[in-house]
Amino acid sequence: MGKPVINKGLEGIYMTESRICKVDGKAGKLYYRGYPIEALARHSSFEETCYLILYGRLPTRKEFDRFDMLLKKERALPQGILDIIEETVGRADVMDILRTAVSALPAYDPDAYNKSKASEVRESVALISKLGSIVATIGRVSQGEPIVKPDLSLSHAGNFLYMLNGRRQGTEEARLLDTMLILHAEHSSNASTFSALVTGSTLSDLYAAVTSGIGTLKGPLHGGADSAALKMMNAIGRPENTERYINRALAGKQRIMGFGHRVYKTYDPRARIIKKDLESLQKHASKEVRRLTAIALRAEKMMVEKLGKTHNIWPNVDFFSGPVYTAIGIPEDLFTPLFAVSRVPGWCAHMIEYWEDNRLIRPLEYYTGKVDREYVPMGKRG
Ligand code: COA
Repeated sequence: MGKPVINKGLEGIYMTESRICKVDGKAGKLYYRGYPIEALARHSSFEETCYLILYGRLPTRKEFDRFDMLLKKERALPQGILDIIEETVGRADVMDILRTAVSALPAYDPDAYNKSKASEVRESVALISKLGSIVATIGRVSQGEPIVKPDLSLSHAGNFLYMLNGRRQGTEEARLLDTMLILHAEHSSNASTFSALVTGSTLSDLYAAVTSGIGTLKGPLHGGADSAALKMMNAIGRPENTERYINRALAGKQRIMGFGHRVYKTYDPRARIIKKDLESLQKHASKEVRRLTAIALRAEKMMVEKLGKTHNIWPNVDFFSGPVYTAIGIPEDLFTPLFAVSRVPGWCAHMIEYWEDNRLIRPLEYYTGKVDREYVPMGKRG
């Protein structure tokens, strides 16, 4: 048999059908359950978007209120999870702490291994709610501040900021964060969703699938790109250094974080929305945010001119996120954990959908090593 066609990185391979998300990489369009991302970012809330992603349709007022109440009921963290956070903050990467805390959640869920669909949806609600509390608490403990209990009168985004900063922040900051959560909530078979599906396809459980997703999200080619992009903006330092920095980086064959995408070969529609939000918050922004914005806009202009039309490398969702998160008051090491807070509805919905017609995910690899080698006892090896 000749060498098979190998699709490195499974590029271009369809592995299942899905009704959850359409990413049109050519047109630069994104739909959750058929709704354009622009409409959801403008009119929906993260909670409603979670309902949409999980159930496939927008809720009635009554359905929404019930869903919101269930989310709120799950906000508090068991003492064991708080202990894990307190024990590990400062000693491990924040994504590792998040992964460890999430993997411990079944210990506090008496129905964690129930495979009914109703239970999977209930676990999804618990995971969506608790991830916000876990990440906010990691941020809080990292600052050396006392843990804050959730405030059930606030939205998911508002409560996140409250648990992180210990004070109620302005509604504008909560709205900006809410939009960021919506924009990151789902994205088809991206690397972390795929890895969640690989885990779940063995008929493991939802907590294990989400734990895998978090481990995969950590890398700089996926969820880590937003903080890498902010690091670059800080390394650039002053807006007038932007062009020189980027030219040097490109000449040295470095990747510019926050640009390029496996599927989008045009401007990422989420980046457009975030850019708009970033521009509109300038009036009341701090000097620091204005500096970052100036660098980001110069870098974007230059990259689009240099690599956009010629190489199909355009800004992705991660490029403008850093300055927006900075404006909201979120520290850089929480960017990737916050991505997990947003993406958990997507992971859960895909897992539940895949289980409806499960097949173990087990691709092949083409072996290029030797065969039939002679086993030589250790004492006789040279
Ligand atoms: N900056 C500079 N060049 C880039 C680039 C970037 N951000 N992204 C891709 N390229 C170049 C590659 O160097 C390569 O050039 P070559 O053909 O001369 O070797 C070409 O574009 C194709 O890159 P490739 O890695 O094959 O594309 P991909 O589909 O695997 O890449 C990413 C997708 C996301 C991994 C890639 O664009 C990247 O590393 N981006 C930066 C990280 C990032 O922002 N990730 C978040 C994604 S939402």
